[in-house]
Amino acid sequence: MTGEINGWTDSAEAWIASIGETGDWTRKTVLDAAMLERVNGHSGTFLDIGCGEGRFVRMLQDRGLHGVGIDPVERLIEAAKQHDPKGDYRIGVGEQLAFEDDSFDLTVSYLSLIDIEDFRAAIREMTRVTKFGGSILVANLASHFTAGKWERSADGGGKRFEIDNYHEEGASREQWLGIDVLNWHRPLSAYFSEFLDNGLILKHFSEPVPPDQSDPKSDRYTRVPGFVVMEWEKPQEMKA
Ligand SMILES: C[S@@+](CC[C@H](N)C(=O)[O-])C[C@H]1O[C@@H](n2cnc3c(N)ncnc32)[C@H](O)[C@@H]1O
Repeated sequence: MTGEINGWTDSAEAWIASIGETGDWTRKTVLDAAMLERVNGHSGTFLDIGCGEGRFVRMLQDRGLHGVGIDPVERLIEAAKQHDPKGDYRIGVGEQLAFEDDSFDLTVSYLSLIDIEDFRAAIREMTRVTKFGGSILVANLASHFTAGKWERSADGGGKRFEIDNYHEEGASREQWLGIDVLNWHRPLSAYFSEFLDNGLILKHFSEPVPPDQSDPKSDRYTRVPGFVVMEWEKPQEMKA
């Protein structure tokens, strides 16, 4: 059953194991390249919200940025510190960030918005702590993906992806590799409205796919949109 922090406390060990030393297939094959391409234009300070065991924080630091990773799960913060004893990792939630206004050049959410219950508060908080002229970089599960599931087609053909109740926001229990957590579905327009209402400007939007279509694991992310990567800028003009 899911439990504390929507299952993340009890799933921490399984999550650490699933990431391993090098990252899971999805990150290594699809998302890291898309995220790091956006990171390349940035320097200075970062905040990684929902950093887990800290893999992306380490990648940002390797690229010369310095900053903080936050996560509500103690065991994950402990694992992050074990990997990177000199790094700055703190317990915290995305909905209420314990940082001053305009603190970071780059605020990151790498597959954590779907885990954050009050995503509207989190986007408001991300906006608040990002510097004017800075960016918010987000990798998220695609809303089409979180609204559906693979089903064997009734006519005996191959599997098909069925989407239902796309416009309804809600949580579903997701279980894989011993992880048992709640994930939230929201239509893409709900995310976009919140970013736009906070005065942010969209600098980048992509739906990354695996580069090697012959890899059998690619199928589920090429037939159906699996991920979105977005970069939103907090414009200097908002300062006034
Ligand atoms: C799918 S994992 C991603 C971890 C990491 N960003 C990565 O890509 O390896 C989602 C993370 O969001 C964290 N999380 C759950 N609720 C949160 C909240 N309210 N605020 C911030 N992070 C949260 C979980 O503890 C978990 O570490």
